Amino acid sequence: MMTATEIRAKFLEYFASKGHQVVASSPLVPREDPTLLFTNAGMVQFKKVFLGQDKPGYSRATTSQKCLRVGGKHNDLENVGRTARHHTFFEMLGNFSFGDYFKEDAITFAWEFLTEVIGLDKSRLYATVYLDDDEAHGLWKKIAGLSDERIFRLGEKDNFWSMGDTGPCGPCSEIMYDRGEEVGCGPNCGIGTCDCDRYLEIWNLVFMQFDQIEPGNRVALPRPSIDTGMGLERIAAVVQGVHSNFDIDLFQTIISSAAQIAGVTYGDNDEHDTALRVIGDHSRSVAFLLADGVMPSNEGRGYVLRRLIRRALRFGKLIGLSDPFLYKTAGVVVDVMGPAYPELVASREFMERVVREEEERFGVTLDKGLAILAEELDRMAAAGETTITGEFAFKLYDTYGFPLDIVNDVAGKRGMAADEDGYRVCMAEQKARAKKAWKGSGETDPAVLFLELLESGMKSRFTGYTELTAKSRVNALISAEGQAVERLIAGETGYMVSAVTPFYGESGGQAGDVGTVTTLTGDVAVLGTMKAGPELTAHHIQVQKGEILLDQEAELVVDAAVRAATARNHTCTHLLHKALKNVLGGHVNQAGSLVTPDRLRFDFSHVSAMTAEELARVEDEVNAAILLDAPVVVEELGIEAARAKGATALFGEKYGDVVRVVEVPGVSMELCGGTHIGATGQAGSFYILSESGVAAGTRRIEAVTGVNALRHVREMRGELDEALKTVKAKPGELGARVKKLLDEIKALGKDKEQLAAKLASGQGRDLMAGLEEIGGVKVLCARVDAPSVKAMREAMDDLRSKLPSGVVAIASEQEGGKVSLIVAVSKDLHDRFTAPTLIKDAAAAVGGSGGGRPDMAQAGGTNPAGIDEALAKVKAAVAG
Ligand code: ALA
Repeated sequence: MMTATEIRAKFLEYFASKGHQVVASSPLVPREDPTLLFTNAGMVQFKKVFLGQDKPGYSRATTSQKCLRVGGKHNDLENVGRTARHHTFFEMLGNFSFGDYFKEDAITFAWEFLTEVIGLDKSRLYATVYLDDDEAHGLWKKIAGLSDERIFRLGEKDNFWSMGDTGPCGPCSEIMYDRGEEVGCGPNCGIGTCDCDRYLEIWNLVFMQFDQIEPGNRVALPRPSIDTGMGLERIAAVVQGVHSNFDIDLFQTIISSAAQIAGVTYGDNDEHDTALRVIGDHSRSVAFLLADGVMPSNEGRGYVLRRLIRRALRFGKLIGLSDPFLYKTAGVVVDVMGPAYPELVASREFMERVVREEEERFGVTLDKGLAILAEELDRMAAAGETTITGEFAFKLYDTYGFPLDIVNDVAGKRGMAADEDGYRVCMAEQKARAKKAWKGSGETDPAVLFLELLESGMKSRFTGYTELTAKSRVNALISAEGQAVERLIAGETGYMVSAVTPFYGESGGQAGDVGTVTTLTGDVAVLGTMKAGPELTAHHIQVQKGEILLDQEAELVVDAAVRAATARNHTCTHLLHKALKNVLGGHVNQAGSLVTPDRLRFDFSHVSAMTAEELARVEDEVNAAILLDAPVVVEELGIEAARAKGATALFGEKYGDVVRVVEVPGVSMELCGGTHIGATGQAGSFYILSESGVAAGTRRIEAVTGVNALRHVREMRGELDEALKTVKAKPGELGARVKKLLDEIKALGKDKEQLAAKLASGQGRDLMAGLEEIGGVKVLCARVDAPSVKAMREAMDDLRSKLPSGVVAIASEQEGGKVSLIVAVSKDLHDRFTAPTLIKDAAAAVGGSGGGRPDMAQAGGTNPAGIDEALAKVKAAVAG
């Protein structure tokens, strides 16, 4: 039996023998393409080559590309597990011609590979062509000898391929394989008439001729090209003579491991088989997505990953799996596919941990949500309803994290479905509320602004790795509005392209250079530099004096200090990456970075917040590498040589060509196109400003180096000096001094209360003069001014100590129009009256009530105007 791995190798070998460059798969997350969620075809990494914006050193290429079709134009999720041939993740074998050969060779190669290299039976092969593509029709007859009945003309839906709503596209021709009548669906079974598994589309040859700029607007590509795609899993199923893609060797190991964990047998029960296929498929997507830097989240790509994990768990439930299992089956994916995709091996430990955590988190709510859903479905069945409301589906999502496809999977079994539009409305409303909708990658594509220049083939040579100045010709000027112009005058901003430039264009997370351009007629400031294409640098300029003219000779000078500050941060980003791996573990991978002259920002995969000790260790490691003053060695190597050397590929790095390896011997090695310092010592020092979380499983460090580290420390010292001066402390004693001051403030608060009480009783002393005798009883009734009841009580204690026998009543107005009243009666008088009896009428006079012990009672009221009357009432009560 020919294994899938052998087929992959034969394909690449065959096309290599026909002059094709074998190019490695690009990551699942397309770089520099905000229009796509995931790489969904082999041609994605060549999009700019088809458009003529990028010119690799070859015109024929072949790949085995990792693809994911979930979300976006090509979405196969709902079909996965239910058919023999749909996957979320799959490998696409492809051959490409960039303005080299066209239809005839494409058909010749495909026919030869299928019938001679892997030996398919010619009598089982059919072809389809686009409606009016007589040329392709004729070629199939001529090259393959297919009769008219075996060539079908189909419309836009089947035979016109486009990558997305925009991008390269063209008519296509598909090769179909007949698996035999027994697989068919009945009398209407046929190509173009049914969608069953009998006639299997195995290869799609796209004749790339157009660029879809926007809906309804198609322009011709610079040169007609070829893009083909053949799913490895499908062709393996045909070659291995199995009915389903899931029965091929690549899948069976994964599926049988899931079956073993669940204690079921594949092939015994339809429902179980669907579940096992879904788990097999999703295990692959999950392992590959995590290896390419996607983390589970509630938005964008991360949400797709989360949905896949949750969907796999729900199918796991159907075969009795309730403990975490997906991390194990995803681990089997690494065993099976790791040799062909080393990124799987590198991220294994981290991937398993993240998946397991997701499983544990979701496992808790899955049962609850399923029960609630079942209840709703019962209610609907009784009421004769079939549509689950958008609100209900959204509530399940919002409360239990149920993706819509799980709701539909469960409901579908009972002939019901969710109102998807309603669900989306609810989701949109929530998003609007949360004001944080995902915004693609947020990049604007400078290629749009410079499209004409790129199409004209204009290039600029970058000399900035070794030079900071250059003399060159002004090859293009573009106004701020995007028009090609012949001059820009003082005050105007725009863009300038020169034949040679030492300016680094923003890329790979590193900010573009700034500096000056001088010509005979004017002085120009370079505010920033960007890459309009891989070989085209555009300077964002503002004319300071005079004017700048097209075709002039110009002197370009990069601001050396700014460049050096940026370089320090860039080299330290590499040192930081390595230090994080050393301190936290091999799972740490770069998830994004920003290098500017002022600081560096580094995002990386790690689950928990770093401790102060870990941060200190990382800071120490980076500073130790700086103190080594090791050289920063830059080498240009082929990708394979770089890999063999052990270089770490950066996120989204494009393979296939020569790469730059930046190495600090014995410390770090990365593929990087940025500018660096000559030796680590030039970084001066490295200081971490902050560590924080940016998304689930992604942390961010911000740091400064060189003069910025010095400046930062100086600023902190300034603040410290200021604080020392303010609190009059000596260096080293600030903490103790501040603590002492805080204690003092606390004590002062206490003093304040006591003082207020004293103030109240101080009035009391004066009021002792107002002491009366009523019926032989000493009575003191006074209005006081106390801020709180507590202060009044303290005042009362003071007054009572001065009057061992008698009655004291004090009343005070308090904040908010409230009144407090306290009455005290000495013990010797209790046989005549007590405090609660005396306070009763008085309290009523201030609009309140009160009570207490015989010797002291307290009342509150809301009528300050009644205070005098209240005090009079006390006297009256004493008088009897
Ligand atoms: N890009 C073409 C496809 O995906 C080959 O079918």
